[in-house]
Amino acid sequence: MAIWAIVPAAGVGKRLGAEIPKQYLSICGKTILHHTLERLGRVRTLSGLVLVLRPDDKTPVSAEIPESLNVRIARGGEERCHSVLNALKILEFELASDDWVLVHDAARPCVKPSEVDGLIDVVSNHDVGGLLAAPVSDTLKRVNDEGEITGTVDRTELYRALTPQIFRFHVLKRALRLAADQNRIVTDDSAAIESLGLSPVIVPGSTDNIKITEESDLLLAEAIMRQQNSPGVGSP
Ligand code: CTP
Ligand code: MG
Repeated sequence: MAIWAIVPAAGVGKRLGAEIPKQYLSICGKTILHHTLERLGRVRTLSGLVLVLRPDDKTPVSAEIPESLNVRIARGGEERCHSVLNALKILEFELASDDWVLVHDAARPCVKPSEVDGLIDVVSNHDVGGLLAAPVSDTLKRVNDEGEITGTVDRTELYRALTPQIFRFHVLKRALRLAADQNRIVTDDSAAIESLGLSPVIVPGSTDNIKITEESDLLLAEAIMRQQNSPGVGSP
């Protein structure tokens, strides 16, 4: 069964607010996109990768792509879910319907290849697919419109959805196509799958695997990478 990766990298990084899209900012001497692709390049089971870029993005990306990766480029859409759908469309003649697609945000450069391998292992025995997720550690409050607390939410059954997320090619395409047709914006791939009534499996993921969203995440990602690369820790 083939596994293709999809890396949505067509966002503008509005919340981070830099002059360039956040995936082109450098941490530890390389762009965020480079780190992400380099880490996925170390996942041996991938047959190829679709990199999704904004149509007006003129950044030369070939230097960001490791030679070991078989890469196609797709055009980004309005929202992340449209970008992923565009990537699936260009795989139409490449993949059989039961092959897997593994979607990973360009903005998560600290992912460990060993965690991706672990996710693939678990999902290969699962009917639907799954995702890396981290348990919630803070106490969660429900609030009303006035900002007053109306209750404390039991966090024991709550997880934060991370990426990668891996699903069967035809099921993810159907799920994202349906969401697009119904004008529903889904913020991760699992949400689209769930709306078909299916239940993806959670694989506990490391809190290292942050999504760079705000400016302060850049420093955090640098610290995580330095720690991951420090002697004795082994390569991530
Ligand atoms: N993404 C994409 N196409 C879009 C929007 C987002 O491919 N239309 C990608 C981003 O490049 C990122 C990932 O989806 O790798 C997760 O999105 P997010 O962290 O929200 O990135 P941005 O949309 O760039 O950030 P912001 O929401 O702050 O503008
Ligand atoms: Mg966004």
